[in-house]
Amino acid sequence: MTDLFDPLELRDTTVPNRLMVSPMCQYSCEARDGRATEWHHVHLGSRAVGGAGLVMAEATAVEKRGRITPEDLGIWNDDQADALARTTRFVKEQGAVPGIQLAHAGRKASKSRPWEGSGPLYPDDGGWEVIGPSGEPWPYEDDGERVDGPPTREMDQGDIEQVIDSFRSAAERARDAGFEVAEVHAAHGYLLHEFLSPVTNHREGDYGGDFEGRTRLTREVTEAVREVWPDGKPVFVRISGTDWFDDRESWTAEQSARLADRLAGIGADLVDVSSGGIAPGSWPEQVGPNYQLPLAETVREGSESDIAIGTVGGITTPEQAQAVVANGRADLAIVGRQFLRDPYFGLRAADALEATDEVTGPPQYRRAFGF
Ligand code: FNR
Repeated sequence: MTDLFDPLELRDTTVPNRLMVSPMCQYSCEARDGRATEWHHVHLGSRAVGGAGLVMAEATAVEKRGRITPEDLGIWNDDQADALARTTRFVKEQGAVPGIQLAHAGRKASKSRPWEGSGPLYPDDGGWEVIGPSGEPWPYEDDGERVDGPPTREMDQGDIEQVIDSFRSAAERARDAGFEVAEVHAAHGYLLHEFLSPVTNHREGDYGGDFEGRTRLTREVTEAVREVWPDGKPVFVRISGTDWFDDRESWTAEQSARLADRLAGIGADLVDVSSGGIAPGSWPEQVGPNYQLPLAETVREGSESDIAIGTVGGITTPEQAQAVVANGRADLAIVGRQFLRDPYFGLRAADALEATDEVTGPPQYRRAFGF
């Protein structure tokens, strides 16, 4: 039996326990510069102090037009990478592994941050032209009326090559900034998921049509990242395990399992199984405890490879995270909002599960937990 506080060995990298902080956008850069601030340092650093084995930095834009909001974190230049280096150092000093989610928002780019309404930003209003597999803008709503998002251009071959190159260069910078895990963001209706899903990919030619065509960009991006990521360090891919539509052709758990095999074949080490986000209505009806775990299990069971699987969604207690791992349902328990409510969730879990010898955790705080 594997316990939550048993290490996870991936290539030559040891993640000290099976708890990962899920990537969570903080929308906290100075507008338009994409450079990590004090906020990011304290936010990520606190979760490492709090006993997480792996701290995954938020969706970080690989190119400027791939930001969701003007305040998103970016890694399209060296200055942005340099600003992250002290945080990776600090996370490692706490015994945790620093990861970064490399992202491109596709047609969901150019909007305001959640606490400013998440509305579309048009080019004459601080926004920018966005790109996607097809030329259909995200359908926003304003007072119950449908409004198109910013102009969305169907990507041509040059855009596709530029995006692949941007992911590759971003991975190089992330590697040099000290990150040890790179996660390719292919979920939640952002660019790579937009190519995967027939809901949004209406292209003809090499990057559209059948499973092979729709998965090509995600595979090529993962290959590009793998090419520059050190051999001993793992690459993860976050996918939406399903689009949650049963009334139209869409991305399904069965296709996710097939994709997991293909990703394993090109050197990805873990599939992080989330769901939804491709279009309005692409959400589960219930988001209770472990709501995405059945998808992770379907991907694992349907996949012929032994690629590691992460599950995320509705994990809020130590016992629940322990059960996910101990029952072999996933290799990694990924925790989002609970780590916002409680940065020390890892220490608390170690205390509750009597794993106080295994947990990484600072001597400055251990006394408070009685270990
Ligand atoms: C998120 N989520 C998210 N997902 C992702 O892949 N990249 C990201 O940058 C973000 N950003 C983000 C910000 C905030 C504030 C929240 C709450 C969520 C989704 C997140 O990683 C996770 O998958 C979900 O929150 C579900 O897990 P929990 O919160 O139920 O543990």
